[in-house]
Amino acid sequence: MISANAVIKTSSIGDNTEIKDFVVIQQDVEIGKNVIIHPHVTIDSGTIIGNRVEVFPGAYIGKEPKGAGATVRKLNFAHKIIINDNCSIGPNSIIYYDVEIGNNTLIGDNASIREGVRIGEYCILSRGVTVNYNTHIGNRTKIMDLSHITGNCDIGDDVFISVLVATTNDRAIGKLGYEEERIQGPKIGNQVAIGAGANILPGVKIGDRSIIAAGSLVNKDVPTGKMVAGSPARLLKTISE
Ligand SMILES: CC(C)(COP(=O)(O)OP(=O)(O)OC[C@H]1O[C@@H](n2cnc3c(N)ncnc32)[C@H](O)[C@@H]1OP(=O)(O)O)[C@@H](O)C(=O)NCCC(=O)NCCS
Repeated sequence: MISANAVIKTSSIGDNTEIKDFVVIQQDVEIGKNVIIHPHVTIDSGTIIGNRVEVFPGAYIGKEPKGAGATVRKLNFAHKIIINDNCSIGPNSIIYYDVEIGNNTLIGDNASIREGVRIGEYCILSRGVTVNYNTHIGNRTKIMDLSHITGNCDIGDDVFISVLVATTNDRAIGKLGYEEERIQGPKIGNQVAIGAGANILPGVKIGDRSIIAAGSLVNKDVPTGKMVAGSPARLLKTISE
């Protein structure tokens, strides 16, 4: 069922797809079968949406990053978005161009995903999560409410990042401008768990299976299978396999 109040400039819409009132879909968009697009969603050219995806009201898919003259980083991105089968895209979430989301991934209410981001399958990015540019997130990883994932960050498979976690990528806090080699987010291994409110500083590597205690400030690499806590984070114990 396609609402007469929707503005649709593509003919590539699969069977049984519902498009509700005041949706705007531009040309060169492909939408699969059994998709539900709720009211006031905007989908821009170059977007491919798989089967059984649900996009909740007010989501904006295909935002072009624009520096307004104030951004020091050069913006590079393709006019392309792929949202694979069975995903759920939350109300008022914003998906910038050049993003790919694996199947069965949930993007929560008010989440914002910047250009160059790749997210695997069966992930949850909960309410208000922000993921900055060129960051890669593996499969089955969960990032809880209001956590910020910085640009140029790598996160592995089966990672759990609790609420209000901050990750950062610029040791000089903006004083030295943008240089790709220097501005690097944390590299977080597989099966890592990060407690509420932890801060992970630029370029820090966290080994597989490690646990970061709630409220920790992680300013040094954490080896595989260690539990660390405190500010700055210190070794608490080794975790058995
Ligand atoms: C790190 C954590 C997993 C440790 O749990 P645990 O293995 O049961 O460890 P214990 O509670 O026995 O504490 C061991 C020691 O670490 C200290 N410690 C525990 N958590 C700490 C923290 N967050 N910061 C600083 N020190 C901490 C304890 O005070 C204790 O020190 P002590 O031996 O000198 O008394 C747990 O405290 C934690 O922070 N969990 C994260 C909770 C969270 O954010 N969950 C998200 C759900 S959405």
